[in-house]
Amino acid sequence: MSPSIGYFTRYIEITMIEYKNVTKKYGENIGIEDVSIRIEEGEFVFLVGPSGAGKSTFVKLLLKLLDADEGEIFFNGSDVTSLKSIDIPKHRRSMGIVFQDFSLLPKKTVFENVAFAMEIIQTPRRAIKRQVPRMLDLVGISAEANKYPSQISIGEQQRVALARAIVNNPAVLIADEPTGNLDPETGWEIMRLLAQINKRGTTVLMVTHSKEIVNAMGKRVVAIRDGRLVRDEQSGMYHPEDEPTGTDEDEGLFKL
Ligand SMILES: Nc1ncnc2c1ncn2[C@@H]1O[C@H](COP(=O)(O)OP(=O)(O)O)[C@@H](O)[C@H]1O
Ligand SMILES: [Mg+2]
Repeated sequence: MSPSIGYFTRYIEITMIEYKNVTKKYGENIGIEDVSIRIEEGEFVFLVGPSGAGKSTFVKLLLKLLDADEGEIFFNGSDVTSLKSIDIPKHRRSMGIVFQDFSLLPKKTVFENVAFAMEIIQTPRRAIKRQVPRMLDLVGISAEANKYPSQISIGEQQRVALARAIVNNPAVLIADEPTGNLDPETGWEIMRLLAQINKRGTTVLMVTHSKEIVNAMGKRVVAIRDGRLVRDEQSGMYHPEDEPTGTDEDEGLFKL
């Protein structure tokens, strides 16, 4: 990351995401309340909490799908809260996003699905031809490049979604329950990939209810409850009070 800063980069902590006393209400309902947090470049952060805790609100504010009522949000040094509408698409594209139901385009092949993310930002054809195979290779799915989503497994589909999310080299990867629809073994494969992507320098923010994954990874764990940040631990663990409350399993951020 930030190669232009050069030699000293790794000695400087760069704040990638910062919330300062952020509150978002939906009428009477509290989305998040007075949340302050800093996430440094290169971190891997789990966001946990029961249903209705405010996890989706937290992420939607970052993507500027919602506006905060109070407080400030910074992303990679720039103020998200005062972003002009014209700059919002570019802001969103600077983050890679993977969600629970991968939403690949059914009529495009694996290759085309990943290429599409580059086409929409007018990447030259040559760069697409070079970059897409690299990404497919990284997520271990090169052999399926010419297949359609319906012809590959769910786990493979999630790999394609991951490749698509990182193909434009985002500073941050946001993953909402990326293992939510996968069997445990496939879920672990996706986790290994996320860890690998994080190792390459991408900051990862992952919403999850998987106790096993949180406990095994030994990463930073941020817990929210009733809109408030209640726990923030390095090498944290999943706690019983983070469990979803039953009826609505995390419905996924992107059901908007
Ligand atoms: N569009 C909305 N209108 C009214 N209340 C909402 C809306 N979206 C979320 N909320 C409320 O905000 C709180 C936090 O929701 P959310 O961020 O979706 O939680 P989580 O993702 O942790 O399940 C909940 O009480 C929820 O009912
Ligand atoms: Mg949610």
